[in-house]
Amino acid sequence: MSFSHSGQFKKSSEEDNALGMIKYYKWFDQTFMKKRFSVLLTRRLHSAALEKLEKKCYVTVHSGKIPMPKKILMSEIKNVDGLICHPYDIIDNDVISNGKNLKAISTFSVGFDHIDVKFAKKQGIKIGFTPEVLTNATAELTIGLILDLLRRISEGDRIIRNKKWNQIYGAYDYTGVEISEKTIGIMGMGRIGREVAKKANGLGMNVIYHNRKRISKSVESRLKAKYVSENLLYQKSDIVTLHVPYTKATHHLMNSKIFKKMKKTSFLINTSRGKIVNEKDLVIALNKKQIRGAGLDVYELEPLKKNNRLLSLENVVLAPHIGSSTEETRSKMSDITAENLLRALEGKKLLYAV
Ligand code: DGY
Repeated sequence: MSFSHSGQFKKSSEEDNALGMIKYYKWFDQTFMKKRFSVLLTRRLHSAALEKLEKKCYVTVHSGKIPMPKKILMSEIKNVDGLICHPYDIIDNDVISNGKNLKAISTFSVGFDHIDVKFAKKQGIKIGFTPEVLTNATAELTIGLILDLLRRISEGDRIIRNKKWNQIYGAYDYTGVEISEKTIGIMGMGRIGREVAKKANGLGMNVIYHNRKRISKSVESRLKAKYVSENLLYQKSDIVTLHVPYTKATHHLMNSKIFKKMKKTSFLINTSRGKIVNEKDLVIALNKKQIRGAGLDVYELEPLKKNNRLLSLENVVLAPHIGSSTEETRSKMSDITAENLLRALEGKKLLYAV
């Protein structure tokens, strides 16, 4: 069986016994004691957050295949009051409709494009998410990808491991480009975009940005960031970095038309959502040298398939969707995810509500 109660990973027969016991406790509590909520976690959270939930809820943690297979999710959601999910879990109309008692969804992420928010809200379901705490970690990874890509660190690592170091002895055999004084074009000047701007200033870069709505003059001057049109951003940037949410409007925002507008010497960085970039067009642009390289943390389909053509390109740095994946940030995200769910179930104001 793929489920365990309260985060304990048990063998099949033990699990069956445990589930039997849960049913008994539920009946006992609901008959004689205060109501406890039933909650489903599609993945384990860190122990402090689990303990917090266990004080007030019956907790079922999915411990099998990730993402939790839809069939299992559809069946397990039937009886729970609350759901904790992650960006790989597709919480669509079908799943939500099966949650007859569902009152709250708390996602372990800042992005919520994997949830049918409109439909959930129509059903009166509260939704929580985890912004702010992952701003720094994601901005750090963005800068990390820029440094790696421009100075060819991962590529060099592969050369050493493949015992080919002696092929790049010449003074000009293996040169990267410097970050300092390059123009970074930030697409989307929300929390993460602003943090990237701050860090880019520290590296001596020139910052230009585009956002649906221009930010205030005082923030612009604090971030030393110049507002430009979308077109100008693509034309002028040495590095284009994406920090917009994934929506219908940003689907395949970066496509062959845009790559043709970018400088041949420029780089693309994506730490937001994979589907914002048309990956097929990106591979063509990289092969045809329409742009010089790409640093990616997110993809159209995750995890990447073995035959994804990005894997064969040297001018690409690939990270496995780790924008928020630091010890510090993930533990804060766990706490907020649990707290959001409990607050929603208890009818209190969420820490961060969608
Ligand atoms: C988010 O929070 O949306 C991140 O992509 C998760 O890692």
